[in-house]
Amino acid sequence: MHETIGTTGRTRDGALDLPRRPRRNRRADWTRRLVRETTLSVDDLIWPIFVIDGAKRREPVASLPGVERMSVDEAARAVADAAALGIPAVALFPFTDPAARDPEGSEALNPQNLVCQALRLIKREVPEIGLITDVALDPYTSHGHDGLMEGERILNDATVETLVRQALVQAEAGADVIAPSDMMDGRVGAIRAGLDEAGFADVQIMSYAAKYASAFYGPFRDAIGTKKALVGDKKTYQMDPGNGDEAELEAELDIAEGADMLMVKPGMPYLDVVRRLKDRFRMPTFAYQVSGEYAMIQAAAQNGWLDGDAAMMESLQAFKRAGADGVLTYFAVEAARKLRAG
Ligand code: PBG
Repeated sequence: MHETIGTTGRTRDGALDLPRRPRRNRRADWTRRLVRETTLSVDDLIWPIFVIDGAKRREPVASLPGVERMSVDEAARAVADAAALGIPAVALFPFTDPAARDPEGSEALNPQNLVCQALRLIKREVPEIGLITDVALDPYTSHGHDGLMEGERILNDATVETLVRQALVQAEAGADVIAPSDMMDGRVGAIRAGLDEAGFADVQIMSYAAKYASAFYGPFRDAIGTKKALVGDKKTYQMDPGNGDEAELEAELDIAEGADMLMVKPGMPYLDVVRRLKDRFRMPTFAYQVSGEYAMIQAAAQNGWLDGDAAMMESLQAFKRAGADGVLTYFAVEAARKLRAG
């Protein structure tokens, strides 16, 4: 009923004459909750963990404050706690004894390797949680690359053959989801065919469809001990950070080859890519909030430069808003605790 006075757009009592005031919906907690478009739930979280040799062993990763490498027994205990919090799945990464690494990454095919030991034990002790394993050779190669090499060159097709065998070894040990993170061409189709032929038609593939050659993987490479070993960079197989259309091509190929779920990695700097893939393909789409993203938040929080808990929850919420169905995050357990506490 306010009358505007002249062209100032003000009502008689001096208030701006605004038919739309978005702040009305934000004026109290109850209404903010009511109109919230996306919510983060424990069901959205995947927890990446690092396993090491030995027993009853936990060691911190200096560049990932709050993250520990765990021996298989400790990992099983930690995963049981994660399951109790309602976390649906964990992703396993090994710190391979440097003495067991070679140029071919043969340890990747050893059914007794750390990841396989962890798979068997966790499957037995915590059967309700989903087990995701990374397919790529970097934790096992002396040169730190994800593939086989001839001189300086990464051999695509020969690598794919090895990756199929790695996936089969993992499936046999109990992996529920195979997550190829190597970025070789054609690996999803080859792994799908290999799994189907071996009777693992139920094993899912979560493809790292759009994985960028990123500086944000630094702390992860500390955690699995590949940083010093890595010769050169991964730019001939991981994607160029300048590209978005190419992410759509990668996703399209992976879907055609049989990927059940897509992943974008890193996460926060690539939320536009998450949105593009979700909108275009309508597939279950995940983002990996990688080690460097986690480390940045933790380091700033430790310095008192930002509120770590709030930044953690906000960053995770942002993935949901961008269209992600879930997030791989080193914050998974902390975030689950916070979500449970309400
Ligand atoms: C290796 C792999 C990497 C990550 C997951 N799988 C590192 C890399 O490609 O060098 C990084 C995860 C993180 O930074 O948290 N295939």
